[in-house]
Amino acid sequence: MRKQRAAAIDPIAEQGVGRADFRPDAMVITPTCTGSQYGPSQPIFTQDHLPVRPHMADIRRRRLLLGAAGLLPLLTAPAALAAMSTPRQSAGPFYPTEPPLDDDNNLVRIHDGEVASGQISDLRGRLLDLNGRPLSGVRIEIWQCDANGRYRHPRERGRSPIDPAFQGFGHAVTDEEGRYRFRTIKPVTYPGRTPHIHVAVRPKGAEPLVTQLYVAEEPRNTSDFLYRRIPEDQRHLVTAAFLPGNDPQGPLQADWDIIFGAVEASG
Ligand SMILES: [Fe+2]
Repeated sequence: MRKQRAAAIDPIAEQGVGRADFRPDAMVITPTCTGSQYGPSQPIFTQDHLPVRPHMADIRRRRLLLGAAGLLPLLTAPAALAAMSTPRQSAGPFYPTEPPLDDDNNLVRIHDGEVASGQISDLRGRLLDLNGRPLSGVRIEIWQCDANGRYRHPRERGRSPIDPAFQGFGHAVTDEEGRYRFRTIKPVTYPGRTPHIHVAVRPKGAEPLVTQLYVAEEPRNTSDFLYRRIPEDQRHLVTAAFLPGNDPQGPLQADWDIIFGAVEASG
């Protein structure tokens, strides 16, 4: 009975793409929406708004913090990570059925509306190939639940109030150095899952890379059924620390490089 009910709320399964099992976020599939249907890309936060890379003082401070937490691999040089691609993960059942009217790279404000609830965070990094070379002009999408654990999806059945100020989905396009940036909230838990952000990387002429980003030091990670599927030596590739920036009142900072192991597009 549970399997039948869950299948009924699975829009991607209804499209005949296929699914792995019936638990939330259990599908290991690729969203069927293509980048082209979302129109031109115009990020609100350009690379000029804030430095994409932290100052050296920030880097040293973060190394101290992460070193104490045993998370130094998060700051490993791209070349050292280049031999291993970012692991693929489930797209989950809540990829938008249609793009929101506002799908820029700022998920915490819809047009000129109120600021969303939650811990405002800047998620940024670079998209690199297996040799550490930047991949430019590539569309990156993220989607996640709001601060109340609700997705913006017609089949989502949560009971908490939806935060009307949270966009839920956004996209960025990497610049000439492979850099991307989002303003969003630090992900929160919802029933059955540890906090995570869904990510889809869509290079032209290659199969998309669909994965999920997790929060460093999150105690629920090790009991999460999808996180546990990632080999232990690859978990740092889908984990980012959300740390305070220079301004204690400002957004948290999360740095995450994505390593794209090319897969030729079929057909
Ligand atoms: Fe999810």
